[in-house]
Amino acid sequence: MAEPSMEKIVSLCKRRGFIYPGSEIYGGLSGTWDFGPLGVELKNNVKALWWRMFVQEREDMHGVDAAILMNAKAWEASGHVEGFQDPLVECKKCKRRFRADQVEKECPECGGSFGAVRQFNMMFKTEVGATDGVAATTYLRPETAGGIFVNFKNVVDSQHPKLPFGIAQIGKAFRNEIAPRDFIFRVRELEQMEIEYFVKPADWQTHFEAWKGEVYRYLDAVGISRELVHELEVPDGERAHYSERTIDFEFDFPFGRKELYGLAYRTDFDLKAHAAASGVDLSYLDEETKERFVPHVIEPSFGLERTVLALLLSAYTEDEMGGETRTYLKLNRAVAPVKVAVFPLLKNKPELVKKAREVYTILKKMMPQTMWDDNGNIGKRYRRQDEIGTPYCVTIDFDTLQDDTVTLRDRDTGKQERLPIGKLLEKLAS
Ligand code: GAP
Repeated sequence: MAEPSMEKIVSLCKRRGFIYPGSEIYGGLSGTWDFGPLGVELKNNVKALWWRMFVQEREDMHGVDAAILMNAKAWEASGHVEGFQDPLVECKKCKRRFRADQVEKECPECGGSFGAVRQFNMMFKTEVGATDGVAATTYLRPETAGGIFVNFKNVVDSQHPKLPFGIAQIGKAFRNEIAPRDFIFRVRELEQMEIEYFVKPADWQTHFEAWKGEVYRYLDAVGISRELVHELEVPDGERAHYSERTIDFEFDFPFGRKELYGLAYRTDFDLKAHAAASGVDLSYLDEETKERFVPHVIEPSFGLERTVLALLLSAYTEDEMGGETRTYLKLNRAVAPVKVAVFPLLKNKPELVKKAREVYTILKKMMPQTMWDDNGNIGKRYRRQDEIGTPYCVTIDFDTLQDDTVTLRDRDTGKQERLPIGKLLEKLAS
């Protein structure tokens, strides 16, 4: 089990400006959370790392950013209008609703009995345009994958990719979850980072295995502890309607072992369904063999909120330093919301502040995620930076004015070294 309690994580996130309850001043809105100043930096770093690894550093990947609102016919064709549902039960006494597979026979709130199980479609319906009516009804997308499949032909026609190739997208998805819970684990407005990787039908197993490896490479890069991640082969009957094989990557959350990511073999289900419903040919012509066929798809799907939660749980550490207990986030440098903090030893000495400002300005240009802090004593500033996962702190003191050296302090070890400003820039740039 992951060590820190959810209470500690939730409290740190609120106190330090990572994550707040959505619409809090109005009493909140269930299943929504807002990212604060540090949370948005962390989240953007997580997305940038993913985009860099899976799109920019590869030659076989193409990024898209499709509209959230799509023609409703796309969701009919994909099977979501009919099949994207969870079993719902309502308590006859208190009228509270639960997911049928998450409760026993009696209502956990009041002990009342449940009515019959019914299927509840999780898509948010909305109206497009000023007129009411069937033609204007659509849905907020429940997965970013939909925007990828409908652009398959556009990407093929404009980029001329050779199989195998992938289309990637990061963006919001919406699910009217019956029971949102566990902080940002199950929310109604979420972000997904998804890839549809198109392959020759006979090669799907090879690519499925390769993508399994890529998931682990990302876990390492982002800073999610491998020991807390487990694979689950999703059995027949429990997979999504489009999948012929799915592996869930589960994480040991404090509230149990639960799905972090999914890796699915979606066959040619989606392209065939969209081709049939739209009347547009979504096959692929292999230039070498002159064969025309509908590619099959491997889909690694990464939830952004779950990534953030798993990496906070992986990073949260308590130890003893200088005879005191301290809390720090052992975040990888790539995702840390603040890369380095700069302090003048004393804030009431103008010459120190001036010099520290000079160093800060240089670092801020080089690394925009640089923070200035002159509040309280140095020990307190270190603790504050530790708690938000800042890998390095730089202190400018009276010696700096003499010899242009500064103190660089390492978050994990607490060790301090003295080095010239030139060397500091080199070290932080590496
Ligand atoms: N395109 C495939 C797909 O959407 P999924 O298993 O339904 O598959 C993929 O979702 C990932 O999206 C999950 O592994 C999880 O990380 C994230 N996710 C799904 N529903 C979520 C929710 N309600 N709150 C937070 N993350 C969610």
